Amino acid sequence: MADYHAKHKYRGEDYAEYYATGRWDGVWGRRVDRRERRGVARLLGRLSPLASILDVPCGAGRFLEALLSGGGDGRRVFQSDIAHEMVARAREAAAGRARGQFVGDAERLPVADASVDLVCTVRLLHHVADPVVRVGILREAARVSRRFVLASYFDRFSLQALRRRVRSLLGGRPSRRVAIRRSEFLEDARRAGLRAVATWGSAPLVSEQRFVVLERVRSDGGGA
Ligand SMILES: C[S@@+](CC[C@H](N)C(=O)[O-])C[C@H]1O[C@@H](n2cnc3c(N)ncnc32)[C@H](O)[C@@H]1O
Repeated sequence: MADYHAKHKYRGEDYAEYYATGRWDGVWGRRVDRRERRGVARLLGRLSPLASILDVPCGAGRFLEALLSGGGDGRRVFQSDIAHEMVARAREAAAGRARGQFVGDAERLPVADASVDLVCTVRLLHHVADPVVRVGILREAARVSRRFVLASYFDRFSLQALRRRVRSLLGGRPSRRVAIRRSEFLEDARRAGLRAVATWGSAPLVSEQRFVVLERVRSDGGGA
């Protein structure tokens, strides 16, 4: 399996504590967090009833409310992350509302094929520069899902991405985050056997974060 910075960055109690309590603090952070959680809830609301969801990487469990919303009492949400400290945070924050948490690598999850209706993979792909690895992560999500994958990526065609490029050109610390074109993301998805059915961005052209609902492509070319 591949090695990249984000696989290690979030390990350790200090970082988990920061991600759970400080990362989304401040006026801007709270705004982005709130918008993203609302955006995810809205995207899920457009999909046919989802009985089960796997959130990987779950981080500190930021999206649990959004993933449960609109699902009634019967929806089962599972949470997974490569960092056991994050899994512990997610478990604590869930307080029994999620069905279970486990440590897992999004490239090879310890889960059977077609186990859930949707896999949610938010804020991971922009940490992965190698398209082969990105495709591997999407393909694994498609394997575990019966139908949908909700993924996010950083869009190169945005002010935020441009600002980071300019900053590093001017000698600033090079960013490890990878912003790609929408066409590259769609090609990654296609190679993973997925096609886009809905897209959402909290502030298109300004914010680089894009959320895309993908659907497994059947062998006859239609949706699952
Ligand atoms: C930016 S956080 C996003 C967490 C969550 N989706 C959110 O938006 O709050 C990235 C997470 O990815 C996890 N991670 C990195 N590589 C991973 C991998 N290969 N498999 C599973 N989790 C991974 C990190 O441990 C970290 O918790």
